[in-house]
Amino acid sequence: MTDSIYSPDVVIVGGGVAGLNAALNLAPRKVCVITKNSLGINTSSSWAQGGIAAPFAKEDSNESHISDTLATAKGLAKSEVVREVISESINIIKDLENIGVEFDKNPDGTFNLGLEAAHSFNRIVKSKGDSSGIEIMRGLTEKVRSCNHITILENVSIDSIMMENNTIYGVIGHLNNQNLPENNVVIESPNVILATGGLGGIFANTTNPRTSYGEGIALAAEAGAAITDMEFVQFHPTGLDFGLDPTPLATEAIRGEGATLVNQHNERFMLDVHPQAELASRDIIAQSIFDQIEKGNSVFLDCRENIGNDFGKQFPQVQSYCDNADIDPSSELIPIIPVAHYHIGGVKTDLKGRSSVDGLWCCGEVAATGIHGANRLASNSILESLVFAKIVAEEINKCPIKKIDSVSQSFIKTYKEKTRNKIRAKKYIWQLRSSMMRNLGIVRNSKSIIRGLRDIVRIERESKGLSAKLNDMILVSKFIIVGAYKRKESRGCHLRSDYVTENDKYKLNIDQNLDSMELDIQKILDKAQLRIDDKNVAI
Ligand code: SIN
Repeated sequence: MTDSIYSPDVVIVGGGVAGLNAALNLAPRKVCVITKNSLGINTSSSWAQGGIAAPFAKEDSNESHISDTLATAKGLAKSEVVREVISESINIIKDLENIGVEFDKNPDGTFNLGLEAAHSFNRIVKSKGDSSGIEIMRGLTEKVRSCNHITILENVSIDSIMMENNTIYGVIGHLNNQNLPENNVVIESPNVILATGGLGGIFANTTNPRTSYGEGIALAAEAGAAITDMEFVQFHPTGLDFGLDPTPLATEAIRGEGATLVNQHNERFMLDVHPQAELASRDIIAQSIFDQIEKGNSVFLDCRENIGNDFGKQFPQVQSYCDNADIDPSSELIPIIPVAHYHIGGVKTDLKGRSSVDGLWCCGEVAATGIHGANRLASNSILESLVFAKIVAEEINKCPIKKIDSVSQSFIKTYKEKTRNKIRAKKYIWQLRSSMMRNLGIVRNSKSIIRGLRDIVRIERESKGLSAKLNDMILVSKFIIVGAYKRKESRGCHLRSDYVTENDKYKLNIDQNLDSMELDIQKILDKAQLRIDDKNVAI
């Protein structure tokens, strides 16, 4: 098989809500959308249960939504970004309805709005109870498939952004499962939009699909882009503890309907922790559950009294996971664990979704726009993704498309096929995921961060070159380690047991790039007197 070469005006890497909405809004530009699986399958977007936060309730307002978002963000959000995104929320819902997305409505035609933690009002526009992601992706996917300006390249993995003399020439990758050098896929384009999602897959317990391991951050960093806020990984308090990988989510809306959290002694521990109990913000609940688990307790969602027989009707997706695990939520407790769910940091972008590299744009979870600060308010992420996808598209549409020379042959010649031995890499991938969960998980401290670093350095040393995926996972883990080490405070979802309060000295973003990160890693190793020789990594 020969190399496939495409030359659209814009190439979009990623087929979740951000990538697809950007593609739709780029018309009439010629666009290529690249997805790792079949379009619409196994994306974080389609797995989203919550919905889209928008102030539709009579007593609600943009100002109240903005103020809840800023309060949750703990002083690190960029208020102009928060305002921009939230003031677009009602238009975004209308856009989705216009392409046929159906949301839950009351008999009088108003939205049946759900409540999630740290929102002052019922504000979540949702679909079929807990199936918002499936419905939004259905609408976007159908629309994208019907558009002539969009070419969809499915089952393709991107390995590199093609760059020369600070100019972007597009991306180069390969067809999945046919990983031969002659099967390169090359997309020549002066505009690359990364919409690759998050990095939950570098943690042992995550709600994210296996394909979410920070690949977009690695691609951007290798192209020279600034990376920021990497330490802010949001753990969702209630993953379903049924022994599955990835861990299915039990949406926060279940607690919004009155479900409580109890331990095996039937103690409702959140009552002693926060006045809002189970509706306190995510970081507080995740930490309390972590504390329970550290004490040797197990934690459960109790839906028996406040939801009871209505559970299946309100939360059909979670009900089906429970059915498979043989648990009846109307009469039994549901075992849960906190899980890596959303990454706030990523590629640093401005108000128009531009990265620090000309021609490289980002939207969705891979981008760090500044809206979430140190902690994300539930159901603000699909909103942010859709709004920024539209902003990026509008911005690209304003400019004439640059003509670029065809450079593919020189890139193909020098392009080293990255994926080598997936089977052997699996062992290291699992070691990395367990170490990151144990050492850089819900609560960190300097000792655990150093332990995590020691593991990552050893894995890097032993596994060099085994797989592109593992290399990306190592790179993003190192960015997280540097951010977590440097932020000597607890703020939002970055919790440290050795610095338990906020410290205004750290009320700033920790920006990094590939070079600064490697230097910082070396400094941390030196300070910890970690000795690394060819065979060992020892303290
Ligand atoms: C949830 O349904 O609990 C998740 C919502 C979100 O992560 O925004």
